[in-house]
Amino acid sequence: MTLTELRVPEQTTARKLVGQPLDRVDGGVKTTGRARYSAEYPFAELAHAAVVYSTIARGRITAIDTRSAEALPGVIAVITHLNAPKLRHTGAWNTRNPLGSSDGIGVDFLNTDRIHWNGQPLALVVGDTLDIARDAADRIRVNYTEEPAVVDFLAEQLHAVEQPNALLFEPGANKGHADSALASAAVQVDNIFTTAPQTHNAMELHATTAVWDGDRLTVYEGTQWIDGVQGMLARKFNISARNVRIVSKFVGGGFGSRFLVWPGTMLAVLAARVVQRPVRLMLTREGVFRTVGGRTPTIQRLALGATPDGRLSSLIHTSVTELGHLGGHPEQVTWISQHLYPTPNLQAQQSQVRLDWLPNSTMRAPGEAVGSFALESSIDELAERLGIDPIDLRMRNEPDRDPVSGKRFSHRRLRETYALGAKVFGWSDRVAAPRSMRRGTMLVGYGVATAYHPAMTLLANVTVKLDADGHALVRCGFHEMGMGGATAYAQIVADQLSLPFDAITVEYGDSELPTAPLAGGSVQSASMSASLIAVCADLRRQRQRHPHQPQYEARVGSDTGLGRAANIAKFIASAIPDQRRWTKAAAGAQFCEVHVDADTGEMRVARWVGVFDIGTVLNAKTAASQLRGGIVMGIGLALTEETQVDPRSGRIVNANLAEYHVPTHADVPSIEIHCLDDPDPTMPLGVLGTGEVGIVGVAAAIANAVYHATGVRVRQLPITLDTVLPSYHALPV
Ligand code: MOS
Repeated sequence: MTLTELRVPEQTTARKLVGQPLDRVDGGVKTTGRARYSAEYPFAELAHAAVVYSTIARGRITAIDTRSAEALPGVIAVITHLNAPKLRHTGAWNTRNPLGSSDGIGVDFLNTDRIHWNGQPLALVVGDTLDIARDAADRIRVNYTEEPAVVDFLAEQLHAVEQPNALLFEPGANKGHADSALASAAVQVDNIFTTAPQTHNAMELHATTAVWDGDRLTVYEGTQWIDGVQGMLARKFNISARNVRIVSKFVGGGFGSRFLVWPGTMLAVLAARVVQRPVRLMLTREGVFRTVGGRTPTIQRLALGATPDGRLSSLIHTSVTELGHLGGHPEQVTWISQHLYPTPNLQAQQSQVRLDWLPNSTMRAPGEAVGSFALESSIDELAERLGIDPIDLRMRNEPDRDPVSGKRFSHRRLRETYALGAKVFGWSDRVAAPRSMRRGTMLVGYGVATAYHPAMTLLANVTVKLDADGHALVRCGFHEMGMGGATAYAQIVADQLSLPFDAITVEYGDSELPTAPLAGGSVQSASMSASLIAVCADLRRQRQRHPHQPQYEARVGSDTGLGRAANIAKFIASAIPDQRRWTKAAAGAQFCEVHVDADTGEMRVARWVGVFDIGTVLNAKTAASQLRGGIVMGIGLALTEETQVDPRSGRIVNANLAEYHVPTHADVPSIEIHCLDDPDPTMPLGVLGTGEVGIVGVAAAIANAVYHATGVRVRQLPITLDTVLPSYHALPV
């Protein structure tokens, strides 16, 4: 590939601030408690809501006894399907119309007696205080007629059906004859992997404060998609989107949990309309488990065939994931297997089952995080069979072009990430045979795996005003969930306009501002970069032509209905040829050291080195933090997190942080992050996206290290003591 074939990124100005490890502009207000989250907006006459959840998975409500709740002093209203106002139906979000409904679940809450999952909101209490509302909610008794429910994921896999085709969500790929090539391969591995469902546990509980003023609605809500919440509420309550304002200044963790709209949001708005007062609904932690979609469980088959010198001849990756009956979407579990290794024969196929469950939703690197566990564990196993170092095996199978599509990579620096990682980590100290490294009573294991995540951009409408005194105001309703966007975008604008960092003010998190794309799929920063470059170029031209104006203003995008439609059409027209031409992805190499107690099986991640190719680094500090965060979530995926569902009732039995274990400080080692900081030639400013790549490969790196330490291959997540102990005690020490 020659450079002339590439579109050179618009790096039009000197890079002074971009890349610098500046502190977050919102750091001070957050660490001093002055940042106001959605449940912290004060209002006179503020009322509080609490939710009553179904305790069966499927059936009908036959009676609701609300008398004792209504009799409680301080209760303002008890709202059920018997007295709630009728709302418009909005179907759930689906991949065939990704800019359509942003509703996570297509149930007509409080407008129906039908129950679709164990945990569905059935009633709402509004009270003068939170305690009164929750006390009253506990007093409500619901009678049901129960119907048979399908809730056992493992049993249902026999009824899995192939995913429908959808934009960006192909059900799979086929090349050559994977089955026969596997059967005739000199070396084979062929295994089943399972991963547990997981629940989002952002630090900030999902919370909504809703305020009606006649037909105008203001909603304070931490979200990853302001535009989506606004559109959904407008449809549901049958008002114009112009009359709905979403304020989302601070978001206490997104990770995919605040991409779609979950029932609590709509219920808060409904309650405020009924009681004619501002209403706050902050879910309990249990409420988040019951009503916010999380990671699907998976069952995967991963088979590899190879020649004796370690060339892949066949790759088969199939997956089964979960959907709810009224919500949920495909998962790209096999996506990673279509992009990492060249093979003449490949079969990738994704299927899904519908359960009477809370639907699956986006959870950090949905698909790739769990798919890479199967693929990268299998590569490790194949390397051992072949007697080849696992990094060497990967380098022997590093493709020149995207293996299935034949497209060119816009950027592919996996070799460099592995080379640097191996050096920094000290990979050469690894004794290849499993169970051969020790420290005291600890078995020591080293593991590696590849991280890979697609990169793309969406439309971001942005306005920038530049004053003669050299201050710039950036206005865009983007989402700051702690990633550091507000800081990084100020760095970009400062460089583009040759201004100091302090001269830039960034306004975000409000539907009154120009519309941003959703903050998901790791697209926000690249999308923002594209618009910021264009706006700043316009401002520079204006300044040149008319040097003595008091103020300059430039914008990209339009927020009128027609203007938006035209922009989307134009964007798609340019994006499609670009997508056809290039495979774009962020990538990395994950290295870890795991200690396993030889007597108890206790597993500790002792050390981590991650080397990433995220294209241009916008801010070295916030990028490293984001990648670290991904690795921490990967440690949870690998070792601790599991939403346990009773296969008889479909009820989550560990809906709390005492029994659902997220990694804590004591579970997380020092994590060393390196980024190549090499701009991608096809992406705006060279930015590839940092949000999700950090979690990909983590579970496999840990599983590979556990194997190296103990000699036990664990092919289920989370890896717990019991999965390691019985078998490895049977091995000779
Ligand atoms: Mo993410 S799971 O795209 O917030």
